[in-house]
Amino acid sequence: MTPRYAAPQQTKLTIPELAGLERDGQKIVMVTAYDAPGGRLADAAGVDLVLVGDSAAMTVLGYDSTVPATVDELIVLTRAVTRGAVRPLVVADLPFGSFQVSDEDALRNAIRFVKEAGADAVKLEGAGPALSRVAAIVGAGIPVMGHIGLTPQSATALGGFKAQGRTAEKALQLLADARALEAAGCFSIVLEAVPAQVAARITREVSVPTIGIGAGADCDGQVLVWHDLLGLYAGKAPRFVKRYADLAGEARRALEAYVGDVREGRFPEEQHTYAIPDEELEAFEAWVASHDVAQAEHEQR
Ligand code: KIV
Repeated sequence: MTPRYAAPQQTKLTIPELAGLERDGQKIVMVTAYDAPGGRLADAAGVDLVLVGDSAAMTVLGYDSTVPATVDELIVLTRAVTRGAVRPLVVADLPFGSFQVSDEDALRNAIRFVKEAGADAVKLEGAGPALSRVAAIVGAGIPVMGHIGLTPQSATALGGFKAQGRTAEKALQLLADARALEAAGCFSIVLEAVPAQVAARITREVSVPTIGIGAGADCDGQVLVWHDLLGLYAGKAPRFVKRYADLAGEARRALEAYVGDVREGRFPEEQHTYAIPDEELEAFEAWVASHDVAQAEHEQR
């Protein structure tokens, strides 16, 4: 019997499958993306998690910190990414101001990312007051990724963009925060700019996958920012970035070649233009010529 509704093809990675990767000792790969082609490319490359980070504020919106990013701006970007990324789980970052006020506010904004943008999960920075936000969002059925260590939304309070957890006391606090985030229901935790040994210990102590950025090789997975990885960001990259391409250089060389070609008449060439049948062209020219004559006679009168 033909099913009444087509069974959806199950291509999206699931949270249990992600946990399975960790259990099997397979490294989890996450990258940020901010548009549909980015989501598509990350998917084609075999990335597991695509993060629509509030880093978009700096990488694509031109701000000098992540703080100004708004829910509305990130929803537009997330919607584009979810159109491009099919298999990877798409995680939307809750921007500064969208979850600090109350659990209700945090849940309302998380729901917007899921309903309006098709996000599979949300990420939020910090522990402490963020724990009840995590519980509220997870309680509504939305998976949450935690983020501790260097949390750029509170960089000013942390004393700038610098490594965290470099004293025994601070490292212990990070471990306590990671445990609390796991207990609150996070399915994964980002560890940013944390000494490798501290991140390794946290990774052993929590059962959910840790995703490191500047946190050494022993995390369960790694994340890099699209523009850093591909050499698209003009600013100074942090020491934990590995640049796999120089796309800004490539783009600039291509644009300069285009400028030169247009100015020197080398572009467009015949192959870039459309043809018209000879008889149609003749008719067109004849019509214009007769029209010109008629116009000239009219003006002379
Ligand atoms: O916004 C972002 O891109 C992030 C990653 C650096 C983890 O939070």
